[in-house]
Amino acid sequence: MKTKIITIENINNDRSQIQEAAMILQNGGIVAFPTETVYGLGADVYNPKAIQKIYQAKGRPGDNPLIVHIHNIDQMAMLAKNIPPEAYDLAKAFWPGPLTLILEASDNVPEAVTAGLTTVALRMPSNPVALKLLETAGVPIAAPSANLSGRPSPTRAEHVIEDLNGKAEAIIISEKSKIGIESTVLDLSVKPARILRPGSVSRKELHIYLAVGEEEQDSAIHPKSPGNKYRHYAPKGDFFMITGSNREKAEKTEKILSEPADSEIRIMMTKELQKELSPDKQKHTSLLVIGSIKDPEHIIADFYSHLRDLDQQHIQTIYIEQIPDALIGRAFVNRVEKATGGKTI
Ligand code: TXA
Ligand code: MG
Repeated sequence: MKTKIITIENINNDRSQIQEAAMILQNGGIVAFPTETVYGLGADVYNPKAIQKIYQAKGRPGDNPLIVHIHNIDQMAMLAKNIPPEAYDLAKAFWPGPLTLILEASDNVPEAVTAGLTTVALRMPSNPVALKLLETAGVPIAAPSANLSGRPSPTRAEHVIEDLNGKAEAIIISEKSKIGIESTVLDLSVKPARILRPGSVSRKELHIYLAVGEEEQDSAIHPKSPGNKYRHYAPKGDFFMITGSNREKAEKTEKILSEPADSEIRIMMTKELQKELSPDKQKHTSLLVIGSIKDPEHIIADFYSHLRDLDQQHIQTIYIEQIPDALIGRAFVNRVEKATGGKTI
């Protein structure tokens, strides 16, 4: 398949490009588009054949449902039923934005979208290109992240091209994703509500509006969120967290750097840990400084991109400094745990 590349930087200047992408969606094509979290690969929610193409293009297991993207709150009532009042409160507070709500699915949501579950995942993205595309297409758009299954989610258009060129009808080239990790998934079909996937909307923020139970544990064999049973976000190399106090992390790092390695390694760390290293180690070429802990958003936004770069450089062993929840948030820690498979040194 020849993939049409459509560049959209500004929704006011690039109207015909938006039209073109919307038309491809209306005609049953699949289109990758930017969102503020990560790029998504979209299809008309009411077209099961188009939905099937998404699973095929990504190599996604058929039992992993898709998030449906909408651009106005009225669409919620078309896709879900028995909607609890909290859903409207949360939508008002966090939409458009990085929060996905799991609700009871209405009868007109195709099985291909929900993977046979009785619930549906809904999100209104805040990226202006995404919103304009949804509005122009006029139908809700089912879209998982626009990566091949098992690869880090794409935060830049070039990542999408890397994974999906030749596999989708169109790819929209636009700005890099500002947040850089996927939305918070909150299950409102149970009481108390439960976070199935942590994201930048934190449990604490949600707590203002409703009671939120404990986060689902990933090791579950039949998790509520089917996506949680797959190994995600994994770089091709071996990946470990370096744990301990700053002093211990620095010592472990120095030990790694002083041992002969069979192949190239990289150690991802904050500027703050870099400063803990002895002066002769601070400029070591195996270090990858990922930002300052004073600017956690920047570290989060570039994380997946770093993993992809390390893959491209065929780095076989990767380490990352463990950063505490309290400093960087649960969502980032969750992604690191998944990418490393929980392996620590
Ligand atoms: O930020 C995001 O959410 C991005 C952008 C494109 O919006 N999308 C995204 O989609 O991350 P995906 O498919 O990579 O992740 C969706 C997650 C999966 O873990 C899936 O299992 C879960 O949401 N999910 C979808 N529908 C569900 C449902 N009805 N019940 C429970 N979990 C569901
Ligand atoms: Mg994904």
